[in-house]
Amino acid sequence: MKSLKLAEKRRSVREYKKKTLSHEHRLYLNDLLGHKPEVVNQTHVEFRFIENGFEKAPQLMGLAGYKGRIIEAPHYYAILGEEDSKECKIAGYVGEWLILNATKENIGTCWIEVTESEKAKEVLGIASQKKILALIAIGYPKSERKLSNIYASAGKGGLSSLTEMGYPNIETHYEKTPVSGRKSIVEFVFTEEWGKTPSLEDLEKLGIHEVLFYMRLAPSYENRQPWQFFVKENSIDLFIEKSDTISEIAQCLDSGVAMFYFEVGMHDIGIAGHWEIMEYDAVKGVPDHYRMVAQYLY
Ligand SMILES: Cc1cc2nc3c(=O)[nH]c(=O)nc-3n(C[C@H](O)[C@H](O)[C@H](O)COP(=O)(O)O)c2cc1C
Repeated sequence: MKSLKLAEKRRSVREYKKKTLSHEHRLYLNDLLGHKPEVVNQTHVEFRFIENGFEKAPQLMGLAGYKGRIIEAPHYYAILGEEDSKECKIAGYVGEWLILNATKENIGTCWIEVTESEKAKEVLGIASQKKILALIAIGYPKSERKLSNIYASAGKGGLSSLTEMGYPNIETHYEKTPVSGRKSIVEFVFTEEWGKTPSLEDLEKLGIHEVLFYMRLAPSYENRQPWQFFVKENSIDLFIEKSDTISEIAQCLDSGVAMFYFEVGMHDIGIAGHWEIMEYDAVKGVPDHYRMVAQYLY
């Protein structure tokens, strides 16, 4: 497990030093974006760097972030694209690719949902027909100690859920745990039939236990971890649990993030393969509140 080990280091950073990125780090990110994963070429997804994040942040209040609370950061990447499920999945995939690469260089990041794309484009001076699918905050983490620890209560409304997500200046309650609450690996895998959870030994036999271990560290909207893998003989289907309260864009971004983590993990353990985006149910007995995202063929 090489690349995906970085997942242990990644976390959502919500407080940034009042310092802009170094020249070297700007070049690093710029160069990276010149070599984006090929899959992006099938889409209109593009990244725009926002230089003066701290200046723009107050104007973005109400337009982006959970409950309209923008995360103040020295810079942002705006991810632009069409509001289409395939496009949003690939935006999630490529956004997370950028995030893990930034983590390598100790650059802090956080996904930020954008609820008012048109107004946000105006604030950020972006002239484009495309939508801002998300922002990614970029900068140096302010404090290593103030880490969020998110539990099931997160996102149920009220400010306390925001505090649990590590928002500063609401209450000063922080946990030491570096990773937000996560499901166990067997919880999001089914084998043979929908609803049949494998044992850890089964997953070890399949050789994918380590991939799933890191996979569960992937970020997701309000830490929902909505993914469900269905293991078949030569493929693995990815489903996500639908939500009526979360935007379609956020659900598709979550899907793309999961696809990216899983693929990196599989490549790390030497199982070559690729995702095919598929939106029909290839599995019997899938409940209505799940939807097929893609199939990993190997
Ligand atoms: C698509 C997406 C949108 C997100 N939007 C926000 C956001 O608007 N504000 C925020 O504070 N965190 C946001 N997050 C970060 C998640 O809350 C975070 O990844 C999750 O709680 C797990 O915590 P961790 O990233 O520290 O492991 C978002 C994550 C994803 C994947």
